[in-house]
Amino acid sequence: MLAGMRTSDQSPAISVRGLEKAYKELRVLRGVDLDVARGSIFALLGSNGAGKTTLVRILSTLLRADAGTVRVDGYDVASQGAHVRASISLTGQFAAVDDILTGRENLVLVARLRHLKNPGAIADGLLARFALTEAGARRAATYSGGMRRRLDIAMSLIGDPSVIFLDEPTSGLDPEARIEVWAAVKELAAGGTTVLLTTQHLEEAEHLADRIAILHEGRIVVDGTLDELKRLLPPAQVEYVEKQPTLEDVFLAVVKDAA
Ligand SMILES: Nc1ncnc2c1ncn2[C@@H]1O[C@H](COP(=O)(O)OP(=O)(O)OP(=O)(O)O)[C@@H](O)[C@H]1O
Ligand SMILES: [Mg+2]
Repeated sequence: MLAGMRTSDQSPAISVRGLEKAYKELRVLRGVDLDVARGSIFALLGSNGAGKTTLVRILSTLLRADAGTVRVDGYDVASQGAHVRASISLTGQFAAVDDILTGRENLVLVARLRHLKNPGAIADGLLARFALTEAGARRAATYSGGMRRRLDIAMSLIGDPSVIFLDEPTSGLDPEARIEVWAAVKELAAGGTTVLLTTQHLEEAEHLADRIAILHEGRIVVDGTLDELKRLLPPAQVEYVEKQPTLEDVFLAVVKDAA
């Protein structure tokens, strides 16, 4: 394939086929297949150590796969890494915010690093969008957990990436802060950004995701909309009241069946 060649805009934002990755003899990913449609929110679920962060690191070119193909925004991660990096942003499991700087300074710094014009205007726009205008002049060290995550997501939006990876965006947040971050994520997708997030919070996937996949023992064992996943289990009859299975019921049943 020619350098710089890219598949059409109708193709999925993320396409993964036969992906494998081992750390020495530990085979973490054993043939992962998934597609993420443009402008959608895709939630990747899995127990601790299932390989979610490993998968996200491969999709964002930080780690090389052993086998399989991965295309992000139409570009091949192995042979067109620079193009992929220009299309994406990654917010890791641990925030990249610098505590010594104010919220605004953090944003200006990233805009400068990306060689953008008017870093101050970009910072002010993002502060407003994430309800951080008041806090913008304060050191990030003084922010609550929810404010830090919002700032972290705002930082990852600089340069208008078309695909954004959020690795456990709400881990360690209280319910209120989590709802603030959910609103920010929904806003991203509404603006046309493709979001792939990993989470341990099944309620988060239920609330946010257009599609949900469960990674278990190295493979995607289930992939579908919330309704499709719920249809995997029959509704339970309890004292003549029909109870729909929750995503948690589906998750636990699928993980147990696949074991
Ligand atoms: N650099 C590494 N070297 C060796 N083993 C690793 C390395 N990184 C991850 N692993 C192992 O690979 C497995 C998958 O790890 P990974 O971090 O991808 O899981 P995860 O699904 O993100 O888990 P969590 O929910 O705890 O964040 C784990 O068993 C982990 O110990
Ligand atoms: Mg992880």
